[in-house]
This record gives sequence, C-alpha cells and structure tokens, in this order.
Amino acid sequence: MIHQALKRLEYRGYDSVGEVTVEGSRLFVKKDSGRLEEVHQKYNLDDLPGSTGVGHTRWATHGRPVQENAHPQVDCHSRIAVVHNGIIENYVDFKRDLEAKGHKFFSRTDTEIVPHQVEEYVKQGMSLEEAFRKTLSQLEGAYSLVLLSSLVPRTIICARQESPLVLGIGQGESYCASDISAFLPLTKRAVVLEEGEMAILNPSGIKILKTRDAEPVNRDPISITWSVESATKEGFRHFMLKEVHEQVQTIKDAMRTHQIYYDLMAGKLAEAKRIFVAACGTSYHAGLVGSFALSRLAGLDARVVIASELSEEVLDLVDKNTAILAVSQSGETMDTLNAVRDSKAKGASILSITNVMGSTLMRLSDVYIGQNCGPEIGVAGTKTFTSQVAVLLRLAAALAKNKGREKEQRAREVVDALYRTPEIIQDILHTKEEVVRRIALSIIGAPSICFLGRGVSVATALEGRLKLLELSYVPAIAYPAGESKHGFISVIEEGFPVVFVAPKDETHKKVIGNIMEMKARGARIISLIQEGDDEVRSLSDDVVEIPGGKLPSLVSPIAYTVPLQLLAYYLSVGKGHDPDYPRNLAKSVTVE
Ligand code: G6P
Repeated sequence: MIHQALKRLEYRGYDSVGEVTVEGSRLFVKKDSGRLEEVHQKYNLDDLPGSTGVGHTRWATHGRPVQENAHPQVDCHSRIAVVHNGIIENYVDFKRDLEAKGHKFFSRTDTEIVPHQVEEYVKQGMSLEEAFRKTLSQLEGAYSLVLLSSLVPRTIICARQESPLVLGIGQGESYCASDISAFLPLTKRAVVLEEGEMAILNPSGIKILKTRDAEPVNRDPISITWSVESATKEGFRHFMLKEVHEQVQTIKDAMRTHQIYYDLMAGKLAEAKRIFVAACGTSYHAGLVGSFALSRLAGLDARVVIASELSEEVLDLVDKNTAILAVSQSGETMDTLNAVRDSKAKGASILSITNVMGSTLMRLSDVYIGQNCGPEIGVAGTKTFTSQVAVLLRLAAALAKNKGREKEQRAREVVDALYRTPEIIQDILHTKEEVVRRIALSIIGAPSICFLGRGVSVATALEGRLKLLELSYVPAIAYPAGESKHGFISVIEEGFPVVFVAPKDETHKKVIGNIMEMKARGARIISLIQEGDDEVRSLSDDVVEIPGGKLPSLVSPIAYTVPLQLLAYYLSVGKGHDPDYPRNLAKSVTVE
C-alpha cells in the first residue's frame, strides 16, 4: 500500500526512497538513494512486517542523495523514525547540543535532529506525544513531519508548519500524506491539517490538536471528488500553472538556507580576482540579476557569460584566482558543466546555485547553495527562476558587509524586500491573473511581441521573452529599452505589442521616454507598473499593476516576472499548445 502511494507521490521528489514499519517492539527500515522502482528492485519494499508504516520519497535539500541521508531518519536506538518535508532552519544548534549529550548522528540531514530530540525528551520521562510536541515548539522553518515509534506501536504522529499534510479516514485505517493523491484510491474522506497543528493517528481514528498548547481541534472530513491526476496538479490545469502559484512558498523556502553557506560562498567570491557567472536559458537571466546585484551591493565586477560561450569568450582569462559562479536548476546542463570543467581544469574555484542536490554540478563545486524548490515539472522554468534570483540577491547582500554604510543599507533593504515578495506574488496571483489572461487573449494573433526594460528589468524582459518563445512559439524580441531606438524601432507598425517592464525605480523617467517613442509609431503598449503609477498608465493601452508599493529595483524581477509567466502560459493555452511540454525543448539539455 505504501509502495503504491509513493508511486503517486513520486512527482514531488525522487532522489531517494525509504519505508519504515513497526512490528512487536522493533522498527523495520528499508531505504536508499535512487528512484522508487530502483530501490524496490534492490530491497523489495513490499516485504516489511506489521500493519503500521510510513514511506517517503526525497528531494534533497540538506545532505546529498545517499543512503544515510534518505528518510526515515532514526534516533540512537532505532526506536523512533521520522520522515520530513521542508527545512529545519535551526538544526545546527540542535545538533551541536544533542551531540554534546552523546547522541550519534549518521546523516547530513536537518531532519535527523528530530528523532534524537524526541528520544532525549522521552529519556527525561515525557510521553512520545509530549516529547514530539515539545520538539516541534522549538523548531524554526517549514515542515511536515511524520513520526513512527516502536515505543507506541499502531500509532503515527504527524505535524505541519508551512509544508502541506493531509489526513485520510478509511475503514479501520488512517492515513496521512503530503498530498491527497497518495491515499485517494483508498479513501475519499480527508481532513486538511492546518498550520501549527499535529495529529495522532491509529486504526480507529484521528485526533487533531494544536501544537502550541495541545488544545483539541474538531474538524469534519471533506469528501474529495478529484481524480488522482488532478490531485497531483492540485486542481490546476497544468503543472506550469501550479508551479507559478507555488512561488509564494518556494521563495520562502529559498530563503531558508542558513547564513553560514552564504558567508562561505561570499568569502570565496571576495577572494577572487575575477568572477564569471555561467548559465543557460532562464538561469542565465537569473545570473544577469545576480551580476547587477554583485556590482550594486558589493562593488564586485561579475561578468555573466552564456555557458556555451564561456570557453570561447573568456577561458584565456580564467586562472586559479577566478571564481565561476554557475547557476543551473538541473545541475546537469551540458553547456554549463563544460564551462565549469574547462574552468576547473585551469584552477578556478567553482561555486554553484542549483535545485538538484547530488547533481553533477553540485559534485563539481567547491561550495554550492540549494534552491529548495522541489522538482519542477513544467519544462519552462518558473519557480526555479524566482528562487535563483532570491538566492543570488542574498548572496550579494552577504558580500555587502564591510563595504560601506550605503551598500550595507541597500543590502538590508533588498533582504527586507525579499521577505515581502511571497505576499506580493500571492496578491498578483489573486488579483491579476484574469487581467493577464485577457491581455494574452487580446494579442493572440500577433505575429511577434517585444519586451523592453531598463536596468535590471532588462533581465525581466528577457525572461518574459523566453517564456513566450518557449510556450507559445511566437517569435519574440527583448531589448534594453534604450537600445531599441538603434534599430528595433524600424519594425514597429500600428498595433505591434510592446510589453514594457516599468517599475517605479531609477529607470522610470527614461522608460517613459522609450514608451513615448514606441507609442508615437503606433505600438500597442502593455506596461507592468507599480500600483498607482498613473503616469505610465496614461501612456499605456493595458497595464498590469504590481502591488506591494515601492520595491528596490534589484528585487523587482521576482515580482514583475510573475505576470510575464502568466502571459506566456495563457497565450500557449489559448493557442491550443501544451505549456508543460513545449515542442523541441527538454527540461534538461544534456548535449552540447
Ligand atoms: C533548457 C530548458 C530551459 C532552462 C535551460 C537551463 O534549455 O529548456 O528552461 O532554462 O535548459 O537549464 P538549467 O537546468 O541549467 O537551469
């Protein structure tokens, strides 16, 4: 049953698999890195004793995908097993403290502190439930946690904070899972666990309580009518749209990586005499934002190079004093790996930002930072782009330290604004999706579309153009707005759609000049503006207003890219294409 349920959850993460059951006074664990069926072939996951068990598929955040890092994680005596989705931000403090008390750790995961801390409290005389609740109250970060123990067999305890967890009520059986598709063929009766709640499951039923004070919660089950397929998309028509919506959460998750990793990478960048940022596609656009940020917040000259061009363009300049900052969602893009390998051979230090722990890029790197996005299924990068930008901005902010009061202040503003972006994205998705959909339908017949911006918004414009190309197959153009008068403007004729990325930052006045130039030649102006920007609104045929007030320009690509993702999505769907699997493209291009 668990094996089948994991199959339905594999799209959420698949670098390692584990199962644990309890029978008598023993836990039985099978786990390893690899995809579900590979691990099953090796260990026969269906052969575990008992009638209470937990399974997990992992997408690594802390610790590479190797057997010891797979879940479940257990305590010193293999009596308490825990599986976890999310990130425990303060695990380093716990680990230090528990090791001092004699606990032995076997993994590099943040998760492992949970069974050990629960074990510690049980040793002090608490019940398993109390011990778990007390541990939860000390955790910082995001989690859905499920605990199974031979101390209290036929019981599962689970809890959630910011990561999803749903409960299922069967006939003489109870379930919990990170999404209902796991147990949908077994029961249609579900209870959603809310933030800050925990639940105790046994075959006869489910008890829910508030984690903070153990106050009981009564909640009636709901009847689920979704199919398994629509449940994996959480009701969205396509994975891409689901992933666009997930950005509210993934930005938060990208921000959870401990400051020590940023300081480590910042130290390497500060030491380097030359920095090249190497990436392809969407990651290249994130890299562009990163290079703006490194120059503005830290006074560093980091040149962004398209990875497939790096060896031709700058390899002669690469030496042991060079740092290559490679950005790659998959960590497997051949062009990026070649640029990294060529540079490594010349002694450069390799730093990387990737969404896939255990990827080739990660293994080639001296220091890496994970994006913590979970798998992205839509071929076009969406949530992975905004999280790359968030990580790069935090990195640049870490480098602003000791760079003078002005830069430090700017860095603080950037980091503060980063923490506001999930709410802004939420707002855009609530109030602007229909606006963007209508704009998309109104330009569905356009033979070409242009995206313009200035400053860091050039990266946003390029990313908007790429999404549109990839998904709607419309030849599109993107330019620095100021450069558009040196050639591109000759293309403009009556009704040509030009999308301006026009936040109210230091480029605003000049962008208005560029809008007027385009308007005077008959272009149809579609502008992304800061809410209430009447000046640009009055010059535009359509506007999408970005809520949240004034944002530091470096942060604006995170918010202003979201409507452009939606524009590409609705144009693609409107034209009858499949935005999840656009023709001729691959999620990860492993050829040169
Ligand atoms: C492919 C994908 C793009 C992606 C690029 C870089 O071309 O179709 O969506 O941006 O690779 O991928 P990476 O995994 O290195 O970020």
